[in-house]
Amino acid sequence: MSKITAAITAVGKYVPEFVLTNELLETMVDTNDEWITSRTGIKERRILKDADKGTSYLAIKAAEDLIKSAGINPEEIDVVLLATATPDQPVAATAVYVATQIGAVNAFAYDLQAACSSFLYGMSTAAAYVESGRYKKVLLIGADKMSSIIDYKDRATCIIFGDGAGAVLFEPNTEGLGFQDELLRSDGIGRDFLRIEAGGSLMPATIETVEQGKHFVYQDGKTVFKYAVSNMADVSARIMEKNNLSHDDVNWLVAHQANRRIIDATANRMGVDESKVLINIERYGNTTSATLPLVLADFEHLFKKGDNIIFAAFGGGFTWGSIYLKWAYNKN
Ligand code: UT7
Repeated sequence: MSKITAAITAVGKYVPEFVLTNELLETMVDTNDEWITSRTGIKERRILKDADKGTSYLAIKAAEDLIKSAGINPEEIDVVLLATATPDQPVAATAVYVATQIGAVNAFAYDLQAACSSFLYGMSTAAAYVESGRYKKVLLIGADKMSSIIDYKDRATCIIFGDGAGAVLFEPNTEGLGFQDELLRSDGIGRDFLRIEAGGSLMPATIETVEQGKHFVYQDGKTVFKYAVSNMADVSARIMEKNNLSHDDVNWLVAHQANRRIIDATANRMGVDESKVLINIERYGNTTSATLPLVLADFEHLFKKGDNIIFAAFGGGFTWGSIYLKWAYNKN
C-alpha cells in the first residue's frame, strides 16, 4: 500500500465588506498613507462592523465558501480545527459552534492558538490527523476579528491589523502530493513584545485593567520585526536545504502577511524570484490566523498540481516555522 500523505483539496475565504483605508486612518490617528505603505505595504483592511458578530461569523462564512465550491457534504467532515487568537468567548471553543453551524455534525472540533502562527501550526496538526489514517476530512479554518482587540487610538497597531477568514480541507493522497515537511519553532523570549496584558489567568479583568487599556494588543514593533525577519527567513531557507530544493524548484512562497518588508527579506534569503512571492497584504493588512488561507484562496487559480509551495509564518510568543507542501490539484 502506498504511503498516505495529507493534501489540501479545497479552499474557501471570507472578508467583511467594510474597507478601512489608509486615508480613513489618517482621520483617526496621527499617520499617513505614505508612512503606512512604505513601512508595511498595507493600503486597506477589512473590518467586521457588526457589534453582535464575532470570529465565528467569519469562520462560518469561509467554511461555507469552501463547502460550496468543493461540493462536499459537511456531514463527512471528521475534524474542524479553528486557528484563532480572537475566539468568540473564553472557555467554550469557537470551533465547536462553527462546526455545528456549518452542519459538520459528525465532527469533533477545537481551537488552536499560537498568535500569527496559529494556522501554520494547524496545518501540521491537520496533516498529522490525515497521515495517521484515523481521519479522512479535516477542515482547518483560520479566522480572526482583530478589530475586537485593537485600540483605534494606537497608531502602532491600528494601521496593521484587519479581520478575515480562510479555510482549507485536508484529505488523504496516495500520489505523494500534499504535506511534505515542516520546521516549527517557538521561543518564550517573545512573550512581552506582542501580547494582550490583561484578561487571562495572570491578570484577570478588573475595572482598572479596562481603564488602563490593557485588553488591547500591545506590540513592540521594532523588536518583533527584528526577530521575524531573521527567524522566518532562516526556517524557510533551511526547509529548502533539508529537502534539496533549489530556488528554481520552489514555485510559490506563501508567507504570513504581517509586513511586506519581512516577506521580501524571506524571499531574498531563499533566493526565489519576486514573481513567486504571493502578496495580498495591501488589501487585508495582517489578519493573524487568516493570512495564509487568504493567500491560498486569492491565488488558487495560479497553482498547478505538483507545484512546490513553501509556507512561512512568524508570530507572537514567539512562534514561527515553515512548511513544504506539494499542491494537489488544478482549479477548473
Ligand atoms: O504578525 C505578527 C508579527 N508582527 C510583525 O511581524 C510586525 C513586525 N513589525 C513591523 O512590521 C514594524 O515594526 C512596524 C510596521 C510595526 C513599524 O515599522 P518600523 O519601521 O519598525 O517603525 P518604528 O516602530 O521603528 O517607528 C519609526 C517611526 C517612529 O518615529 P521616530 O521615533 O522615528 O520619530 C514612530 O513613532 O515612525 C513612527 N510611527 C509612525 N508614524 C506614522 C510609528 N507608527 C506610525 C504610524 N504612522 N502609524
